[in-house]
Amino acid sequence: MESNASGLVQRLAAAGQSHLLQFWEELSPEEQAQLTLDLQGMDLQEINGFFERAMKMSSGIKQEKMDARMEAVPREVLGSVTRDRDSLKDWELQGLQCISGSKVAVLLLAGGQGTRLGVSYPKGMYDVGLPSHKTLFQIQAERILKLQQLAEQKHNVKCCIPWYIMTSGRTMGSTKDYFSRHHYFGLDKNNIIFFQQGMLPAMDYSGKIILESRAKLSMAPDGNGGLYRALGNQGIMEDMERRGIEFIHVYCVDNILVKVADPSFIGFCVKKGADCGAKVVEKTNPTEAVGVVCKVDGLYQVVEYSEITLATAEKRSDDGRLMFNSGNVANHFFSFSFLRDVVQKYEPQLQHHVAQKKIPYVDGKGQQIKPDKPNGIKMEKFVFDIFQFARTFVVYEVLREDEFSPLKNADSQDAKDTPTTARHALMSLHHRWVLNAGGHFIDENGRHVPAIPRDGAPSTTNLKDGTDLPIKCEISPLVSYGGEGLEDLVKGREFQPNLMIDQSGVHELVKNGV
Ligand code: UTP
Repeated sequence: MESNASGLVQRLAAAGQSHLLQFWEELSPEEQAQLTLDLQGMDLQEINGFFERAMKMSSGIKQEKMDARMEAVPREVLGSVTRDRDSLKDWELQGLQCISGSKVAVLLLAGGQGTRLGVSYPKGMYDVGLPSHKTLFQIQAERILKLQQLAEQKHNVKCCIPWYIMTSGRTMGSTKDYFSRHHYFGLDKNNIIFFQQGMLPAMDYSGKIILESRAKLSMAPDGNGGLYRALGNQGIMEDMERRGIEFIHVYCVDNILVKVADPSFIGFCVKKGADCGAKVVEKTNPTEAVGVVCKVDGLYQVVEYSEITLATAEKRSDDGRLMFNSGNVANHFFSFSFLRDVVQKYEPQLQHHVAQKKIPYVDGKGQQIKPDKPNGIKMEKFVFDIFQFARTFVVYEVLREDEFSPLKNADSQDAKDTPTTARHALMSLHHRWVLNAGGHFIDENGRHVPAIPRDGAPSTTNLKDGTDLPIKCEISPLVSYGGEGLEDLVKGREFQPNLMIDQSGVHELVKNGV
């Protein structure tokens, strides 16, 4: 090894990571240069510290259940689309007013690797097989466009909703390229700001960094809570300040139903004077493996299903609902000042969580091995780890069938949250929009198809891989953001079970086709 690299050798030795150079002599000069570069950009002592703290926290969690320290979300900080119907209009108006003043930004978490879905490109570019074949990115872009228009019409003023998109080392290039190829889906490219989250090495259980190949470290994004560090070191807070952003809606790329910059949610949080808000869906099944928002020792946080006993998960309130029923869907509101405090003051206090994974590695002979059981950990921060710092925290409960259907897994017979379930969830929602606006669907005998049950459940949970809904209905977000504005198009009309509504009008599609 070159003498100018001797500092690196020492640094690795001091950090107990000398094994990373075990194949040095066998590497090409290019590989040596790349490995040196990768290692030079790393603070090994800091990474070792992350590992120790994360492992300690993880063993603490295993030993102690949270039950005794937990308290449910009190009614006074809860807004609910079903229980507070009278206030919904006010909240929406408030949200639209903030949007029309260009005070609202949206922030998309799109730095994940999408390993379960198993595609080689960013998840936002996935086409779940809608009649329009729109991808998740396109659907979200069009919802932003439409919402800008709604706010502009309401207040007669031009406005913009800047879209901050967090990617990672693995997804940045292809994401930017995709948006550029599609002309930013009609949005102004100056209002779409891409930034990149950090990466961390995968470690084995003794804290050694794992080599993915002889010349390459195994690296992964540092979790969606890597957001806060990235906001700080990439000038994003300054950009928001320059634009006069006061409120930020943060969401995940994989929820096909996401109401980007949802005016009602924003309006509710603003009216409550909240600095931090979480949108939740009701957890109805005690054993569902979803984290719940609650208080622990007086501070808000998300408690995972594995951190509580079944007895606590099954506890019910007087109204019959589960006591801990605020299912977290990683959909949040932050005031700008709160986010700035987090980035500037609190971020270093956040700890990494441990995710045990099967991590491909090279053995001592340099052979690549794909383990069949977990052999190491990835370290991740979570976006909701900052709830504890909020001064005024609120919770906003929405209907799962209207707002939450994440794309996590590839289609298969028993999988949950697949392209098929996401497609069904969206089409079932749009079907209900048509019914609510006074339209009807007719079957091949010309009879009205009965309205689907309000929870829409049969369509999204029972029909799996490949099968499709009896009624296929897709409405472009450019026509309707949340079901509004459809009466003129559908009221009193009868439609075949294959319906597409876009800017060019109402189209009845031939069976099984576009
Ligand atoms: P998930 O935890 O479901 O991960 O992310 P994923 O990458 O989509 O899928 P798997 O686990 O590899 O199969 C929830 C949201 O958080 C984002 C994802 O892009 C998704 O929107 N995320 C996740 C990040 O932005 N960064 C990360 O490091 C991890």
